[in-house]
Amino acid sequence: MTENAKCLPSPPLSELPACEDREWSRMAIGILQGDGRRSADTHLVKPVFKGLRSISIYLKDESTHPTGSLKHRLARSLFLYGICNGKIRQGTTLVEASSGSTAVSEAYFAHLLDLPFIAVMPHSTSRQKVDAIERFGGRCHFVDSPAEVYTVAERLAAEAGGHYLDQFTFAERATDWRGNNNIAESIFEQMKAEVHPEPEWVVMNAGTGGTSATIGRYIRYRNLSTRLCVVDVEHSAFYASYASGDRNVTCSTPSRIEGVGRPRVEPSFIPGVIDHMIKIPDAASIAAMHVLSDRLFRRVGGSTGTNFYGLCWIAASMMRKGREGSLVSLICDNGDRYAATYYNPDWLENNRIDIRPHREMLETFIDTGEFRAIHAA
Ligand SMILES: Cc1ncc(COP(=O)(O)O)c(C=O)c1O
Repeated sequence: MTENAKCLPSPPLSELPACEDREWSRMAIGILQGDGRRSADTHLVKPVFKGLRSISIYLKDESTHPTGSLKHRLARSLFLYGICNGKIRQGTTLVEASSGSTAVSEAYFAHLLDLPFIAVMPHSTSRQKVDAIERFGGRCHFVDSPAEVYTVAERLAAEAGGHYLDQFTFAERATDWRGNNNIAESIFEQMKAEVHPEPEWVVMNAGTGGTSATIGRYIRYRNLSTRLCVVDVEHSAFYASYASGDRNVTCSTPSRIEGVGRPRVEPSFIPGVIDHMIKIPDAASIAAMHVLSDRLFRRVGGSTGTNFYGLCWIAASMMRKGREGSLVSLICDNGDRYAATYYNPDWLENNRIDIRPHREMLETFIDTGEFRAIHAA
């Protein structure tokens, strides 16, 4: 502050700014909190696999949120974060870079608050997600490659005088990682009455990296002995970055598993809270998705397959060492979104993805406990 500024007289009380804008944010926060209050906690399902005698498997079913994926939590948090930081106001045009799921959830919240919403997504995004965004009144803007979404979203937001929600940067900080019923707190609360209430491992994939950041931080904050394994997919920068410590790693081929695997190391990916990473072939992720869907009698999405394959890998390693305990992972979204892709034999063939060997291996494993690794982790 300059000397002159210090001497300026205070404005008379009548000229102090009013806070009319707060009326809108008060109403908006009430609506977002109402959505939270109406939502029950998601189930922590415990499927029984007779081959895995000493290991109990738990899957947090995030597909049951009103917008069908784990991104419902993130979207609510990003809206609250934007409003509480004064970035989202009445009439603000919201723009997001997404592979689809987050945009579906954000379109829903934008609709609740009567705000214009534009989703910037790759052309490859599933038709069901595009339909859902449009049904909530959102607009879809397509780009050729996932690496383009960031700059295009930023540009569109600037042109509209709006706000770029930027999940890839803000996911890790918009979520209250110490608690406030975040996904980690919910999992550990739901585990409390189990035989092994502290899981040996939580297994989670990475898109923004935000969910794994929340879980990893919570584990440390609560002094739990649980470890966090992050599973990455074939075309993604995360695993190589974790292994080398280089945050500048990039990957030029787009991920085939929607929602996970990124062309760059996202700001919300926090390697310091991760105890182990496994890179999983896409055919193994999709095979695991099919196997789990069969056993649950309903379809799960591809990123859930990545999680389930990683979970089986860790279970096999524990069984080899004669260890017992519990393992937790997530059902990230519903598989009906991928009827035209991962559940379509023609799509698999066109993409030269042969899931049969992985499928047989996984079925044998969960039925008998015999694990024959098809690839190196
Ligand atoms: C279907 C699906 N699974 C998993 C993830 C990964 O979650 P996170 O962004 O918290 O890393 C995403 C992220 O968009 C997703 O859409």
